[in-house]
Amino acid sequence: MIAPTGPVLSSNSAVPITQFHPTITQEALEEKVIIIVGGANGIGESLVELCCQNGAYVCIGDIDTPRGAPLSLRCCEKWPVYSDPNLPPKPPRSTFQAVDITDYHAVLNLFDFAFKTYNRIDHVVVTAGSMEPKENWFDCTLSLQDIRTPPSTKDLDINLTGSLYVVRVASVYLRHNRGPGVDRSIILFSCAAGFKETPGVSVYQAAKHGIQGLMRSLRPYFCSPYKHNLRINTICPWMTQTHPAVTKKLCDRWEEEGLPISSALQVAQVTAGVLVDDTLNGTSMYVEGGRAWEMEANITRLEPQWLGEAPSKTLTRGQKVLEDVWAA
Ligand SMILES: NC(=O)c1ccc[n+]([C@@H]2O[C@H](COP(=O)([O-])OP(=O)(O)OC[C@H]3O[C@@H](n4cnc5c(N)ncnc54)[C@H](O)[C@@H]3O)[C@@H](O)[C@H]2O)c1
Repeated sequence: MIAPTGPVLSSNSAVPITQFHPTITQEALEEKVIIIVGGANGIGESLVELCCQNGAYVCIGDIDTPRGAPLSLRCCEKWPVYSDPNLPPKPPRSTFQAVDITDYHAVLNLFDFAFKTYNRIDHVVVTAGSMEPKENWFDCTLSLQDIRTPPSTKDLDINLTGSLYVVRVASVYLRHNRGPGVDRSIILFSCAAGFKETPGVSVYQAAKHGIQGLMRSLRPYFCSPYKHNLRINTICPWMTQTHPAVTKKLCDRWEEEGLPISSALQVAQVTAGVLVDDTLNGTSMYVEGGRAWEMEANITRLEPQWLGEAPSKTLTRGQKVLEDVWAA
């Protein structure tokens, strides 16, 4: 029987939270086993270092071996694990496993590898992502000839299908070797485009809305102590400086307009803050200029206002029926 964790903030919380101030302590991360899928670069890389620095064990899964493997070695050298010579040796601070998140068997291999190495998995974060702004499926200049060529589905495959694969495998692995009262969680990466229209990247936007939908569909189900007893949350960064060369033109314009940019470390800090806070389930943290705001509680709380009281009440009753029939 899986022991329940403490009270969770669910989407129907009566208490709105707005700005989220992450608190990351060594105590909260020490010896936690964390898989970071997409951890070889950008926000994921900063999160890998932050977690290792605070005493966690991190398994990096990424398609980018030339960046991921040396990062893992650097973490082992910088934050070595000390083993008592009289006890069985402890596992390495960090490991790397090459994975293409769109390949279900490769995702399975990653979890098999991490579990074999660390004997348990406490948290899983998916930072792997893709955005192809040049691949505009709905370009208004497309001709009848142009649409004969099928468009790339890369943004959908990596951002959405890949995350779905990871969540499926994680939901089973996270149940294993778990003591009573032990907190376990999954964090997915969405985007401001996960809730706000963003011109030019329709497929990416559909995928990131999909991430929000996936989290919302799973948050009441996963957190049940009689089912998975897991927390699931999303991070929705806005502009984050991870590819200075690629985004230089955009960043220059952004700065000209005086708009905020987060650093990869700031987004990683918010992510680690959500990871260690066992009261958070079903939240979405919008991150702008290094500061985070939770959105879900207010969306739910204000539903009678934006949808209308009567439809909001009927909708709630109908959704309850669906839950009873489909998720019981
Ligand atoms: N940087 C931003 O401004 C920004 C804004 C909003 C949302 N996000 C989201 O945050 C997340 C991290 O963004 P980032 O800027 O750090 O990205 P990044 O490109 O720096 O890192 C993404 C990582 O995912 C890996 N990856 C790509 N395809 C993969 C695959 N098929 N299998 C496994 N790994 C794969 C890459 O190798 C890379 O290490 C992404 O989901 C992104 O959509 C980023």
